[in-house]
Amino acid sequence: MGDLMTLKKTFGIIVAILVFILAMVAVSYSWNCRSLPEEDARIAAARVAAMDLAVSLKGQLMRTINEDGAVAAIPFCHERAPNITQSLSESRGWHIGRTALRVRNPDNSPDDWERDVLEKFSQRIENGGAVAEQEFWQICESPEGKRQFRYMKAIPTGEVCLVCHGSNIAPEVAENLDRLYPQDQARGFELGELRGAVTITRELENDAGNSTESAPEERK
Ligand code: HEC
Repeated sequence: MGDLMTLKKTFGIIVAILVFILAMVAVSYSWNCRSLPEEDARIAAARVAAMDLAVSLKGQLMRTINEDGAVAAIPFCHERAPNITQSLSESRGWHIGRTALRVRNPDNSPDDWERDVLEKFSQRIENGGAVAEQEFWQICESPEGKRQFRYMKAIPTGEVCLVCHGSNIAPEVAENLDRLYPQDQARGFELGELRGAVTITRELENDAGNSTESAPEERK
């Protein structure tokens, strides 16, 4: 009887130690972020970059669909869209991309920070927030110890997007998508729904300390 109690106690202690170790590991692999006041110049610059990306993608997409049809526009999204994000990234020296909770291209999958932000956007929209107005930024230390400025801006599902992301995709379009993206999750969206977000990461290694960084208030 006494032995059994000791055994249970020992077991309890071992479990407690294991839980503690796991918690420490989880903490050391997580994002360490803080908020930044809206006046920070990096936010204005990120807004411009996100707008640039949205405008040039949508403009060229509309033109391609109008001139050559939806099937011809798939190669545009498949090749040109990643090229456009790439060249915008290179011209600014930041990382600019697109991500979503449900992605077409697995390369666009969100990291933990991006997933949290997308979930925050969904929550705010559920509570009546306008899709197009959702944005979020923070200064973070990544799990690898890199200091970064991170910014995300929501992308709503527009009319033209339904051609390839809606629930009524033409068979010849669907066929092409199936072939290029066997793991496609980016279908079944409705007009106005949150499709995804522009995501911008700026490495801060070379940035001098910014006095506005330690602002206490969190933007919701
Ligand atoms: C002609 C078909 C087509 C149309 C129209 C289209 N898309 Fe896409 N979309 C794609 C393809 C293909 C990809 C995958 C691109 C890649 O490989 O990176 C994609 C990827 C995306 C992504 C990146 C995340 C992911 O799922 O991989 C977002 C965000 C996105 N589209 C939003 C939109 C929005 C918003 C519109 C309307 C303005 C739109 N798309 C219209 C075909 C289309």
